[in-house]
Amino acid sequence: MIQSIQKTDKEIEEGMKGKDFLTIGEFTTDEIHYLLNEAVELKKLQKQGVPHEALKGKILGMIFEKSSTRTRVSFEVAMLQLGGHALFLSSKDIQLGRGETIEDTAHVLAGYLDGVMIRTFGHETIERFAHASSVPVINGLTDTHHPAQILADLLTILEHKGYLNGLKAAYFGDGNNVAHSLIEGAAKVGMHFTIACPKGYEPDEAIITKAKEVGKTTGAIIQVTEDPIDAAKDADVLITDVWASMGQEEEQAEREGVFEPYQVNEELCINANKNYIFMHCLPAHRGEEVTEGIIDGSHSVVYQEAENRLHAQKALLKLLLKN
Ligand code: CP
Ligand code: NVA
Repeated sequence: MIQSIQKTDKEIEEGMKGKDFLTIGEFTTDEIHYLLNEAVELKKLQKQGVPHEALKGKILGMIFEKSSTRTRVSFEVAMLQLGGHALFLSSKDIQLGRGETIEDTAHVLAGYLDGVMIRTFGHETIERFAHASSVPVINGLTDTHHPAQILADLLTILEHKGYLNGLKAAYFGDGNNVAHSLIEGAAKVGMHFTIACPKGYEPDEAIITKAKEVGKTTGAIIQVTEDPIDAAKDADVLITDVWASMGQEEEQAEREGVFEPYQVNEELCINANKNYIFMHCLPAHRGEEVTEGIIDGSHSVVYQEAENRLHAQKALLKLLLKN
């Protein structure tokens, strides 16, 4: 008989030290829970004004090839609150933007920094960077994944519901980076996840297949449907994201037509569990993917979700970057 071997907290911590964070699927269920517990503790300390400088003297580089409000500010503040420092590196201002190779950039920066956070386009860019880097690399969003966002989302759901395993979450709209990371995260923590999206905009099939497999061990049921009402039925958590992501601006008009039936509005939310929470990673477009009434209404937790980027990322940085 094969016995599952339970890892101790110390072993989980050791296992995360120096690791990259490129997708949430690469982390185990134990590691995700450990990160969330750490985030809860760090949030408590910060609210109580208790110093918690676990990364004193450590320096994080942050390379941005796309715009950002939350990711930039929350990672920088996270490093400051942990006693370290963060450098904002716009790809327009560093030689990467003028054609220096990803590998040369990664090798050179690893000589100065203790970790690098990157927001870029193709996911292969961050994979190449991580491959060449001797310091941990953290995904601050690629075209296909946004794992740091999902740590904050899971923390927010946990704060509201008290547990994750067995909850029912539903996502409406584009099968994009946020959707992919949500699918991976939900599967790992045993949260049922249904994504309602129009034909042609489904999430990556390989991600769905893998998540369904993971779900067999955690209990998560992962589903894709074209029917938003079906997805919303008895859901505890309703989630959406923009219809046109960064880099898809020229498809905006076309996408508005395609995604209109997937708007999170009052009529759709009636189908959810009466204590549902509404989440959106922000930035949002009121009147497009969500109505003003829902995002600014009593079920919405979007500002808490945004704040939790800070607490979740502090846990992540602490565990990956500490000696
Ligand atoms: N949710 C999120 O990643 O926001 P920013 O684009 O502002 O970083
Ligand atoms: N899907 C969005 C998320 C922004 C945080 C985008 O990639 O633009």
